Amino acid sequence: MNILILGSGGREHALAWKTEQSPLCKKLYIAPGNAGTQHCGTNVDLNMNDFGAVESFIRQHKINLVVVCPEEPLVDGIRDYLEARFTDDQLLIVGPDQAGAKLEGSKEFAKEFMASNDIPTAAYKSFTAATFEEGVDFLESLKPPYVLKADGLAAGKGVVIVNSLDGAIETLKDMLLNKAFGAASQKVVVEEFLSGIEVSVFVATDGSNWVLLPEAKDYKRIGEGDTGPNTGGMGAVSPVAFAQGEFMEKVKARIVQPTIDGLKKAGIDYKGFLFLGLMNVNGDPYVIEYNVRMGDPETEAVLPRINSDFADLLQSMANGTLDQYTLEICPDFAVTIMLVSGGYPGSYEKGHVISGLDKAEKSHIFYAGASEKDGKTVTSGGRVIAVTSLHPSLEKARGLSLKSAEAIEFTGKFLRKDIGKDLL
Ligand code: AMP
Ligand code: GLY
Repeated sequence: MNILILGSGGREHALAWKTEQSPLCKKLYIAPGNAGTQHCGTNVDLNMNDFGAVESFIRQHKINLVVVCPEEPLVDGIRDYLEARFTDDQLLIVGPDQAGAKLEGSKEFAKEFMASNDIPTAAYKSFTAATFEEGVDFLESLKPPYVLKADGLAAGKGVVIVNSLDGAIETLKDMLLNKAFGAASQKVVVEEFLSGIEVSVFVATDGSNWVLLPEAKDYKRIGEGDTGPNTGGMGAVSPVAFAQGEFMEKVKARIVQPTIDGLKKAGIDYKGFLFLGLMNVNGDPYVIEYNVRMGDPETEAVLPRINSDFADLLQSMANGTLDQYTLEICPDFAVTIMLVSGGYPGSYEKGHVISGLDKAEKSHIFYAGASEKDGKTVTSGGRVIAVTSLHPSLEKARGLSLKSAEAIEFTGKFLRKDIGKDLL
């Protein structure tokens, strides 16, 4: 197969690396890709949000399978666009259609979907500028802390958690009346705060059959001990000790199967990855959010643990034969540490030369915000490099990744040294 991966982060580098290892993969293209993906296939200077340009590239390069990694083109309907122009045997697509992508594109839709399918989630109500006063009444009926979510896509920044009632009312006003998140906060979901530990669970589905990829824990805050502002993710660990056995059985029975059934009932033919952001509340799983894609940096921890053929998995998801696919998982721990630019998630400098990569040979190096300039690899984003190490011992996997993370250098480099420490 000729395969096209759309995206440019560490997640896409991990996906390209894994896909390229398959004998099923003839030619691999990544659009736009980054400094790492160019070693797995051919980077293509293509705007993935320009669906016409994607279509032309697919025709020109006889692409058989396209994997859409980020949420934006999915929410904007790239699958629907391509499906209308290619038949199933001409082009296989991994990624849901616009109706399915609404699970991430609209928090209100996701909550309604969960309510109508009896999927456990926090109690909620949603409000618009016209119902602002009812929103205030609802906040007054809840106990702190208060959780407010912009309905639409807000680049991972649309969730605000506030401790005081006054602060929550002020935030609701900002979101609804002052359009703090633009169109994304025309509607706001206010929900009950769930107290527990989070875990990310990844479902691969062909619309009927599904398999669970290894679960992971994401470290979202910039500072050690989970302090400071939220980021795209500072690291990840897989497997997660508390998300095994009985808990996972509950996840499958109460969340995964009802979600797949609910999508079918709604007439949505969901072929792609579904990321469940879960809260473990005293041993019971609740859905915090759905994402219609793989996570980043979770993918950089999850994919190195998959031993079976990844292109075969992608193909089976896209052509509806996932029941014939056997997923093989490596039992080792994977610890992923993100190296980020100084100042991230605020403003940061770009263009610093990255060195010491040769001293990190015991780890997988996945590039995120890194590009090539004059034959050198330089920083080009907030999250720069994900370092992943595998070992049967979590402590040793952590040690290996820390050592590699220390060896790689660039001006302003910052990392969290406590990734996985809480799981020891
Ligand atoms: P999201 O963008 O939906 O992933 O939300 C960002 C983060 O906010 C989540 O990872 C949780 O840590 C937190 N969060 C979201 N909803 C809730 C909730 N109902 N209770 C507690 N924490 C939440
Ligand atoms: N790591 C969280 C996400 O990808 O949304």
